Amino acid sequence: MHVHSYEKIWLALGLGLILLLIGSVTYGAVGPGVSMVAADQPTVDPTALDEDDRFAEPRVEQVGENEYEAYVVAFQFGFEPDPIVLPANSTVTFMVTSRDVTHGFEVVGTNANTMVIPGEVSTLTVETGGPTEYGVICNEYCGAAHHGMEGSIEVVPQEEFEESAGGSSDGDGSGGDQ
Ligand code: CUA
Repeated sequence: MHVHSYEKIWLALGLGLILLLIGSVTYGAVGPGVSMVAADQPTVDPTALDEDDRFAEPRVEQVGENEYEAYVVAFQFGFEPDPIVLPANSTVTFMVTSRDVTHGFEVVGTNANTMVIPGEVSTLTVETGGPTEYGVICNEYCGAAHHGMEGSIEVVPQEEFEESAGGSSDGDGSGGDQ
C-alpha cells in the first residue's frame, strides 16, 4: 500500500502527540515531589489512635535543636491538644490525623492549611516566629457543629515552653511536676 509522504508526516505527528500526552500524564503522577496519598507516609488506624505512639497522647515533642513535632488529633468537633502550645522561633512539624471523619486544619491568617483524613497523617512544617496566638479552624464540612469546630495555637517564649513541658531534664526539683 502506498502511503503519501505528507500523510506519513501527519501520522508521525499524531503518534508523537500521543506519546507526549502519555509522558506528561506519567510525569504528573510520578514526577519529582509527586506522590499519591499514603504512598510513602505512615498511615494510622483511626479507630485505634489510643494505641498509636504519636496520637494516644496528642502533644508537642522536641525532636532536635529548635525542632519540634506536634501530634494533633482532629475530631467532631475540635482539636486536641487545645491550645497547641509551641515554642517561639522554632521549626514545628504538625502531624495531624482524624479520629472520625474528614476535617480541615487551617491556621488562621497563615498559609498553613491541610485536609485531615481518617487513616492518613497530614504533615506540614512551619516556623513559629515570635510569641503570639493563632486560631485554628476546620474548613471541611464535617457535621452539624462544623462551623463551631475550632482550636488554638499559643506560641510562647522558649523558657515558658520548657516550663510548661514539665522540664524533667536534669531533675533540678524546681516543682513543675503534676
Ligand atoms: Cu471538622 Cu468541619
